[in-house]
Amino acid sequence: MSLEVKNLKKIYQKRFTTRPPLTAVDDISFQIRPGEIYSLLGPNGAGKSTTIKMIAGLVLPTSGEIHIAGKKGSSPSYQKLSAILEGTRNVYWRLTPLENLHYFANLRGVPSSRVKERAPMLLEELNIDAKKKNQSQHLSRGMLQKLALAAALITDPEVLLLDEPTLGLDVESGRRIKDMILRMARDEGRTILLTTHQMDLVEEVSDRVGIINHGKLIQEGTLPELRAVFKSHIYRLRIKGEISWEESWQNRGLRLIQKQNDVQLYELDLKDSVGVSDLLAYLAQKQKQDSELEILSCHRVTDELEEIFLRVLRPEQDQK
Ligand SMILES: Nc1ncnc2c1ncn2[C@@H]1O[C@H](COP(=O)(O)OP(=O)(O)OP(=O)(O)O)[C@@H](O)[C@H]1O
Ligand SMILES: [Mg+2]
Repeated sequence: MSLEVKNLKKIYQKRFTTRPPLTAVDDISFQIRPGEIYSLLGPNGAGKSTTIKMIAGLVLPTSGEIHIAGKKGSSPSYQKLSAILEGTRNVYWRLTPLENLHYFANLRGVPSSRVKERAPMLLEELNIDAKKKNQSQHLSRGMLQKLALAAALITDPEVLLLDEPTLGLDVESGRRIKDMILRMARDEGRTILLTTHQMDLVEEVSDRVGIINHGKLIQEGTLPELRAVFKSHIYRLRIKGEISWEESWQNRGLRLIQKQNDVQLYELDLKDSVGVSDLLAYLAQKQKQDSELEILSCHRVTDELEEIFLRVLRPEQDQK
């Protein structure tokens, strides 16, 4: 089932204060195909959870439309959608993990024969300790988070909204959930909307990424597309000894970022390979004049998603 969001907007009215209303989500549109994993990336307060809550039907949009499987949000298609929200609210503490799964499945009208089949499978796959007849309140935070995911999956949803699904999980559990997310999309054709602050998770699972800031979708694309747009030409050069720079290098953005004893770290924007050979020629000439001068390293700042993300946000932050 596809998921489409059109011009979605949420303005929170501040009821008991004189402060102006807050636009948490500002005219966002995107589309996710069946079997696709779409990640929403953005700083704290960007509007990710509000977007997820509107799609899940928990927060009423101020305006805009949500289409599931091509139809404007209607209850039959909502039966095929599940969400896990930030934190672990959707777990009943007094029930055991297994009872929780029965409870949530029941609420959503899943036949109990199906639950009997699916529940043990999910508990095992997520490594949730359900053998003891313990109430869920005795589970650790990470276990509760996994139980919330199992409760979302018990209905066998076609559209899954995952708001920070790996928050507070240990490495092993985080990996399990990552593998499950991949399998649910690739093998089972589920449509997945994910938010997380974990860049490695985004890099490993996303088909497309949307970058959101101040409620606006400011960039969207596959990881290679984002890398191409925000390709880095910034180089870091570490040298030992004294070096004098001609003025033209200042125009190439040369700046000293660190100096420790006689080791200096510079950053400069070389734009293209001509710039790189210019730099190498200049350094070679300087070394001829001064045999003490040592080039310790020179490398391009990597195109890691984290760098791209910060670069996308930077112009906005500079405007402030
Ligand atoms: N119920 C609410 N009433 C008023 N303002 C709200 C409400 N919920 C969220 N907000 C505000 O809306 C904005 C967006 O919040 P939201 O929780 O969607 O951000 P987020 O991207 O999920 O952030 P985080 O990464 O911290 O989870 C924030 O400024 C937040 O303070
Ligand atoms: Mg959030």
